[in-house]
Amino acid sequence: MAKKYAEAKTHEWRDLLEQHTFMALAKGGKCGQVKVGAKTIVDLACGEGHYTRALRKAFPKAERVMGVDISEKMITLAKEKEENKPIGIKYVVQDVREEAEAKDEERFDLATAAWLLVYCKSVNELKEMCKAVANYVKPGGRFLTIITNPQMAFDSEGTPKSVILGEMQSNVLSRYAKYGFTVSVPSETPQEGDRLRWSIETSKGPLIIDNYYMPREAYKKSLMEAGFEKIKFYPFELDPNREGFGRNFAIAPFSHLEDANSNDKKEFYQDFLDYPPALCIESWKIRLQ
Ligand SMILES: C[S@@+](CC[C@H](N)C(=O)[O-])C[C@H]1O[C@@H](n2cnc3c(N)ncnc32)[C@H](O)[C@@H]1O
Repeated sequence: MAKKYAEAKTHEWRDLLEQHTFMALAKGGKCGQVKVGAKTIVDLACGEGHYTRALRKAFPKAERVMGVDISEKMITLAKEKEENKPIGIKYVVQDVREEAEAKDEERFDLATAAWLLVYCKSVNELKEMCKAVANYVKPGGRFLTIITNPQMAFDSEGTPKSVILGEMQSNVLSRYAKYGFTVSVPSETPQEGDRLRWSIETSKGPLIIDNYYMPREAYKKSLMEAGFEKIKFYPFELDPNREGFGRNFAIAPFSHLEDANSNDKKEFYQDFLDYPPALCIESWKIRLQ
């Protein structure tokens, strides 16, 4: 599983679109337009530390960088990387939801949680998670996350139907297949908690990740109730410096695809940009009066 995860992370869009957008937001506050400092950073649900390391490098002057994950296996992998090449990250095994009331000095200027909120199956779970996340952030600090785009289900009209594990009829969004994944959505009128199933190609078979549908408003409301403001949603952008990127980028395991090595990345990723499968959310913790 961890190996499939690692391979799924090497797909080109993860770098050219996901990481580009997420890190531009982290560094710039508003897609790179404003420089934002952060002396203390926590990466929640850090997995094997992919973004924790990217954040450490993006903020070389940060005094404290920590990665948190519920999975011991993931934290072991992250710690191994830190031991092999120390860059100053502390990793801890922790369930984000179980973080006790933190003291002010223990809170962080910047908290990130790429692909964490997507596991919440109900608005109540989402509210609980957002409150827990807010506890890690200083007043005036920032929270950044990545979610599956709720709009995706509504854009599924006319997509092929299939039955997943005999359970239900699903619309399979195959427009993303050329990027190495598909997403199955329950219907064009999803209900809160409905499953959104990502199937990501790897050389060891597909990596299946289940996320749950939550309306965009529910994310906004849950974050607001947890004490965040200035909540903005950003679709992924293509890194403008690498639009012309060509053959020298390996897109295993689907380099057999005709246009996978296209020199015109903008054309290749147009469907991705027109129908964003994921969004970043940026929000700020309300300052104390
Ligand atoms: C899809 S991975 C994302 C990893 C990393 N953020 C990234 O984008 O590369 C989701 C991670 O969330 C972690 N996770 C899920 N629920 C959690 C919780 N309640 N507290 C801490 N980590 C959690 C999982 O163990 C897993 O490593």
